[in-house]
Amino acid sequence: MDALSGTAVRLRPPRREDLEGIFGWYNDPEIVAPYDRFSTDTFDEFAAAIAAAPHDPASLAPRYVVETLPTAEVVGVVGHYRAHPVLEYVDVWYVVGKPEARGHGFGREAVGLLVDHLLQTGPCERVGATCDVENVPSFRLLEAIGLRREGTLRSALFHHGRWHDVYVYGVTRSERPARRA
Ligand SMILES: CC(C)(COP(=O)(O)OP(=O)(O)OC[C@H]1O[C@@H](n2cnc3c(N)ncnc32)[C@H](O)[C@@H]1OP(=O)(O)O)[C@@H](O)C(=O)NCCC(=O)NCCS
Repeated sequence: MDALSGTAVRLRPPRREDLEGIFGWYNDPEIVAPYDRFSTDTFDEFAAAIAAAPHDPASLAPRYVVETLPTAEVVGVVGHYRAHPVLEYVDVWYVVGKPEARGHGFGREAVGLLVDHLLQTGPCERVGATCDVENVPSFRLLEAIGLRREGTLRSALFHHGRWHDVYVYGVTRSERPARRA
């Protein structure tokens, strides 16, 4: 996988030396799952899942780290996965793992790079994302890069002791170049 470069961030495949830091984020529910289910793996399971991800379209493992430019500080991770057993689209997910790096536009640019890459190189016409209806930073990020809210899945995700509604967002190949132009 090639690196994807923007103005303030670059996406590149995870390296061995990144894994401990990312695994630390994965073990902090406040960082990775403020609006999501939380679960843990062993470090070895986590490292094996990252190594296997390029060969598995359904993998939920991180596919790229997000590093800042020009400092090359790793501040987050993003991924994508085949989201439905029959329908043909890909969903993206994203975490800015360093709390002090949030709110600077890094997430917005990183997810924009990933969505563009998937639409330009993948077989699918639509890229989507889902997020808890209470996750304001997440859906504002999606709207900022041109995904449209397509609907609400009611009581679709259980976390923090109750069922939560989830927004469905998406963008099609024909919309994204139009938005950039
Ligand atoms: C969601 C997340 C990736 C956003 O990353 P970020 O780098 O902080 O976001 P950006 O700085 O690019 O901002 C994206 C948008 O969210 C808004 N935003 C960021 N933080 C916000 C906050 N705390 N409250 C409200 N809006 C916020 C920004 O203003 C921006 O919207 P705008 O373009 O309309 O101004 C980050 O908050 C995160 O990692 N959260 C935990 C993991 C998570 O929930 N991931 C998504 C799962 S669906």
